[in-house]
Amino acid sequence: MIEVISDLAPLRKRICDWRCAKLRIAFVPTMGNLHAGHHSLIKLARQHADRVIASVFVNPTQFGPNEDFSRYPRTPEADAAGLEAAGCDALWLPSVDTMYPYGVHGAVRMQVPGVTDTLEGAHRPGHFDGVATVVSRLFNQVQPDVAVFGRKDYQQLAVIRYLVRDMAFPIELFAGETLRESDGLAMSSRNQYLTAEERPRAGEIHRVLQVMRAATMAGTPRAEVEAEARARLGETGFTVDYAVLRRPDLSEPVDGEDGPRVALIAARLGRTRLIDNIEFQ
Ligand code: PAF
Repeated sequence: MIEVISDLAPLRKRICDWRCAKLRIAFVPTMGNLHAGHHSLIKLARQHADRVIASVFVNPTQFGPNEDFSRYPRTPEADAAGLEAAGCDALWLPSVDTMYPYGVHGAVRMQVPGVTDTLEGAHRPGHFDGVATVVSRLFNQVQPDVAVFGRKDYQQLAVIRYLVRDMAFPIELFAGETLRESDGLAMSSRNQYLTAEERPRAGEIHRVLQVMRAATMAGTPRAEVEAEARARLGETGFTVDYAVLRRPDLSEPVDGEDGPRVALIAARLGRTRLIDNIEFQ
């Protein structure tokens, strides 16, 4: 039976008991409304630890004023059942008051420089400050040996890597692969916002990422690859925030230069904002 913990004192006791028993602890932070993609992160965490704890917390500080904080789906019972089936030992389910004892406006904030200036950071000002703030708190609360994040949030993973190194959190990070629907749409809690008419078009993001990869590998100049991607998404009805090729550190590559690449897209279909990426050589 999964243990659901909502207060800091029992959380500390649970972690302390595991530590005294010399068990290695893995942590999977989430915002809930869990799907198979999250469950695969739990399974990855299992491979690297003796005990797995997940958190479900819809973090107000990472949502902008016009974003979907209030309508973000909250399904704690289903989340607990899914986590248990995936092999998770405990669920940390803090309230906003537990996470932010001085309130959201009185909270000490983290700010990761550099990697947050571009892409999601540019389109969602303050978003990564909120992510870094809550992840630091979660790390302090749970004190895991291992933490697992999904590759779908590519830039978030870069931010967390920077945070862990710079703040010397003694935590080993692992990245889980993106799980996809049969048409390639990356699994996301936000997919359920898509209307029946929008849903079949949403798979275009993954197809465009594949086209970006093929064109880059065939030597097409970056500007052309990006312009073609934006045009294709526009034709499918997306409003494109970005469709870009980057080096793994998110800096801009130069045409003709070899090395690993990542293509990243953020685009809105109706009221739903979707992000995805594909990594390649
Ligand atoms: O990726 C998410 O679900 C969130 O950004 C995270 C890491 C749980 C922080 O709230």
